[in-house]
Amino acid sequence: MIWIAAAIIAALIPPTVSLDLDVASAPSIRNASSSLAFNLMSYYNTNSTGTPPENVGTLPQPLYWWQAGAMWGGLVDYWAYTKDTSYNPTITQALQAQVGPDDNYMPPAYFTSLGNDDQAFWALAALSAAEHDYPSPGPDLPQWLALAEAVFNTQWPRWETDTCGGGLKWQIFESNKGYFYKNTVSNGAFFQIAARLARYTGNQTYVEWADRAWDWMTAIGLFDGQYNVFDGTDEKINCTELDHTMWSYNPALLIYGTANLYNYTNGSAIWEERTSGLLRATIRNFYSMENATNVLFEQACEPYNTCNNDQYSFKAYASRFLAKTAVLAPYTLPAIRTLLTASAEAVTLACSSGSDNATCGQKWYVGGFDGNAGIGQQMSALEAVQALLPVLPPAMNASNTSSFNLQDCVPRTGPNVTIAVREVTSTFAVEHPTGTAASPPGQRPGAGSGGRSTSNGNGESAACLQARTELGLKVALPVVAAAAAEIGGLG
Ligand SMILES: *[C@@H]1O[C@H](CO)[C@@H](O)[C@H](O)[C@H]1NC(C)=O
Ligand SMILES: *[C@@H]1O[C@H](CO)[C@@H](O)[C@H](O)[C@H]1NC(C)=O
Ligand SMILES: *[C@@H]1O[C@H](CO)[C@@H](O)[C@H](O)[C@H]1NC(C)=O
Ligand SMILES: *[C@@H]1O[C@H](CO)[C@@H](O)[C@H](O)[C@H]1NC(C)=O
Ligand SMILES: *[C@@H]1O[C@H](CO)[C@@H](O)[C@H](O)[C@H]1NC(C)=O
Ligand SMILES: *[C@@H]1O[C@H](CO)[C@@H](O)[C@H](O)[C@H]1NC(C)=O
Ligand SMILES: *[C@@H]1O[C@H](CO)[C@@H](O)[C@H](O)[C@H]1NC(C)=O
Ligand SMILES: *[C@@H]1O[C@H](CO)[C@@H](O)[C@H](O)[C@H]1NC(C)=O
Ligand SMILES: *[C@@H]1O[C@H](CO)[C@@H](O)[C@H](O)[C@H]1NC(C)=O
Ligand SMILES: *[C@@H]1O[C@H](CO)[C@@H](O)[C@H](O)[C@H]1NC(C)=O
Ligand SMILES: *[C@@H]1O[C@H](CO)[C@@H](O)[C@H](O)[C@H]1NC(C)=O
Repeated sequence: MIWIAAAIIAALIPPTVSLDLDVASAPSIRNASSSLAFNLMSYYNTNSTGTPPENVGTLPQPLYWWQAGAMWGGLVDYWAYTKDTSYNPTITQALQAQVGPDDNYMPPAYFTSLGNDDQAFWALAALSAAEHDYPSPGPDLPQWLALAEAVFNTQWPRWETDTCGGGLKWQIFESNKGYFYKNTVSNGAFFQIAARLARYTGNQTYVEWADRAWDWMTAIGLFDGQYNVFDGTDEKINCTELDHTMWSYNPALLIYGTANLYNYTNGSAIWEERTSGLLRATIRNFYSMENATNVLFEQACEPYNTCNNDQYSFKAYASRFLAKTAVLAPYTLPAIRTLLTASAEAVTLACSSGSDNATCGQKWYVGGFDGNAGIGQQMSALEAVQALLPVLPPAMNASNTSSFNLQDCVPRTGPNVTIAVREVTSTFAVEHPTGTAASPPGQRPGAGSGGRSTSNGNGESAACLQARTELGLKVALPVVAAAAAEIGGLG
């Protein structure tokens, strides 16, 4: 993406048009989501006649394979929340085209870029399809749940205890750069898949792996006592140092995992404390831009104009997993609704370009279209807007909003799975936050996905504080504090 400062400044003249969106109206949210989805799908062409079979379902180069899986996941949610079936044939075709010869999202054509995180994003799409009863691809094709379980069953054997006491590597194949990097996105996505499979199937194996992944990430310090979530660490130095860059999709992957376990255990104190801690850190690190309170921004790259194609899309997953967290941990709903609503309002101004008035820029905090459009940016905007549907106040579900049904936003569980109070086996707890802002962590540049880290932990507004106060009521948990004291020194 070529960045021309003058063009950007010119583009920032207050928009005369903007995306048509009333954040309090389900029909309006659906219409706006529909415009954004249509614009996004205009980039997609690997379903056309004559496309080599191995390319069907992928995005045009230079975008990587993983991002297509991530996009289809967002579009499964689009269907689930809006009931617009327009793209279902395309979604189904794409999700089936990339399963690979072993029905586990390892297609040989993409081995050169295939990391654990990449494979996981396709599994997350299949999981959403299972949880929302997305139409079956047909009896002879791999079913959604089976695909997600198959990915899990390729990943747990990759858990590697020779270094760092455990963890998944970023890459699967030694020939790929990043083979010695153990990072949060790979382990966090694995954790979320395990947590969602636990809630969906009730199978204890998934609970145990979710616990193991969480405990290892805690022990190695991939997040600290204040739940600041970092990029990753290097097994060549036995994970003794970290790349402290913070990306919005990492805490998002974690928080929807903790929310699933919170829900599956019918509200256990430990998973509640972790969910609350991750939410507070997310607000602090990604929703506290000066002058743009509660507007999601990618703090490690947007202010420096250094985001790459992957990173343009991260806000999609941040919005997606916060909305889903509000559904499974309803005590977080007021705070999350505040964040998602303010961000969607900003998106309407950022998506003010194109003949459709629905072409979106990158930065939502600038009050207009910043001239930087593309697939990742469009994905982020779509998921920010459709994420409003699961957090609409129940009153908006009244008959005046036509056929919208909040119930469609709730992920179901498989047959005979009950939500009940369950014993929590995970042993580690992060230090109870003290209430003082964490000092910015030191940085070791160079490793992992790069980018620059910045801390904005101090510039918190009144509205932001209020959102956190709503949560504050839920975090004073003696049992967790006691567990943290017992373990001591972690983080
Ligand atoms: C639907 O009804 C609710 C409750 O009466 C009201 O608050 C809301 O504004 C209405 N929404 C629309 C889009 O008319
Ligand atoms: C949604 O779009 C339809 C079709 O363009 C239009 O008739 C309707 O008025 C729109 N509704 C809202 C609430 O924007
Ligand atoms: C490809 O997908 C787009 C978006 O869903 C759709 O409009 C188009 O008809 C599809 N083309 C083919 C050949 O299936
Ligand atoms: C490597 O780190 C793990 C986990 O912290 C630790 O258990 C192990 O003893 C370390 N190994 C070496 C050789 O230092
Ligand atoms: C639980 O899940 C694991 C991993 O997919 C599987 O191997 C095992 O058979 C499952 N157990 C039951 C009882 O379904
Ligand atoms: C679990 O999620 C369901 C669906 O939203 C919700 O009704 C229930 O209250 C949640 N459980 C807890 C303990 O919050
Ligand atoms: C926020 O607004 C104030 C007052 O208009 C201005 O001085 C400041 O530079 C702005 N900060 C940012 C980060 O835009
Ligand atoms: C875009 O906005 C302009 C100005 O409000 C309006 O005239 C036009 O009809 C809009 N286009 C679409 C496709 O909504
Ligand atoms: C929402 O409205 C639909 C349609 O009227 C209804 O079936 C459903 O039970 C309502 N859900 C909630 C959570 O109120
Ligand atoms: C669910 O439980 C019922 C009653 O025990 C049983 O008949 C049925 O086979 C079970 N279904 C599955 C999928 O295990
Ligand atoms: C879930 O927790 C609530 C509140 O503590 C309790 O009333 C309810 O009985 C629990 N449900 C189950 C199935 O354990």
